[in-house]
Amino acid sequence: MFARIVASQIYLPQRIVSNHELSESLDTSHEWIVKRTGIHARHILADDETASSMALSACQRLLAEQNIDPSLIGSIIVATSTSHTAMPSIACQLANSLGINDAFSLDVNAACSGFLYALSLGNDRIRHHNDHYSLIVGVDAMSRITDWSDRSTAVLFGDGAGAILLKSDPDTGLIGIRCGSESHGEELLRVHGNLHSSQPCTLSMDGKEVFRFAVDRLYTTSQNLLASHGIDPQSIDWVVPHQANSRILDYVTKQFDISPLRVVKTMAQHANTSAASIPLALHSLRDSGKLVRGHRLLFKAFGAGFTWGAAVCEY
Ligand code: UT7
Repeated sequence: MFARIVASQIYLPQRIVSNHELSESLDTSHEWIVKRTGIHARHILADDETASSMALSACQRLLAEQNIDPSLIGSIIVATSTSHTAMPSIACQLANSLGINDAFSLDVNAACSGFLYALSLGNDRIRHHNDHYSLIVGVDAMSRITDWSDRSTAVLFGDGAGAILLKSDPDTGLIGIRCGSESHGEELLRVHGNLHSSQPCTLSMDGKEVFRFAVDRLYTTSQNLLASHGIDPQSIDWVVPHQANSRILDYVTKQFDISPLRVVKTMAQHANTSAASIPLALHSLRDSGKLVRGHRLLFKAFGAGFTWGAAVCEY
């Protein structure tokens, strides 16, 4: 049995903040941000929105569009590192709001690689626990952990949510997936602060070191995954990567000898939305009309931890 992606939906907050707007309060410029990252703008949530409310909006759209019987959803797995409550999990909040009973429901935190960790769990649920459907969500409210006075990180992130529905399929779907973590990197990308104190929690990053790790790990992980399944990189129709920096993707694409035209890039409009970036990019590819059933997709991500992951599937 395979886990096949049968639907996707997204939620992006209404407010769009341009590079020009950021440069009014930070010592930065639209030109610098575009040249070094490929980012033009980002969506930022409103005061009354949360990671949970964004996840719910994406899932409501998805279930309404698909007209799914909630009782057939066997698992809800939410990737996030910006939940505004410690408990219940966003997955359980979704179960409550959507009327889904008896589901295996939990949140996973693997930072920007979180969506692939969630996908791996959803794949296991379908293959080994007979779930008919598994609801997988990537959501992050990065603006809530951004240090808005730090130009080296404030320009990089955005907010959003993406949900996909996996369905058990006898013929095709997810072919292979690998996720892992490193025994170093904790200090290079982290959120400082403490949920048990009133101090704000803000993100800090050694951008150069993270960049180096990302290029190396995105390449080797994808290469190893494809080789272990005997898949020629040339047979990949679309690469749908985590959207941290356009230059990172360009380096990896060159090493991989894959046409840049097959690499989906959405950081210009969304910036880095952490766990939401892959499902947002997948949905934008779907909306473009270029993605058709049977296409081969390669997902890849890296993030704080360090964590990393890659997956290959037939759409
Ligand atoms: O999702 C996973 C986590 N994130 C990432 O994958 C991000 C990985 N890293 C990166 O994308 C890049 O390292 C950055 C975009 C963060 C930074 O680009 P860079 O080319 O590595 O720049 P840098 O940090 O070496 O900084 C170069 C210069 C510095 O000035 P000096 O020391 O050369 O005078 C910075 O102070 O650019 C300056 N700078 C800025 N200038 C204008 C840093 N941020 C900005 C800014 N606007 N926003």
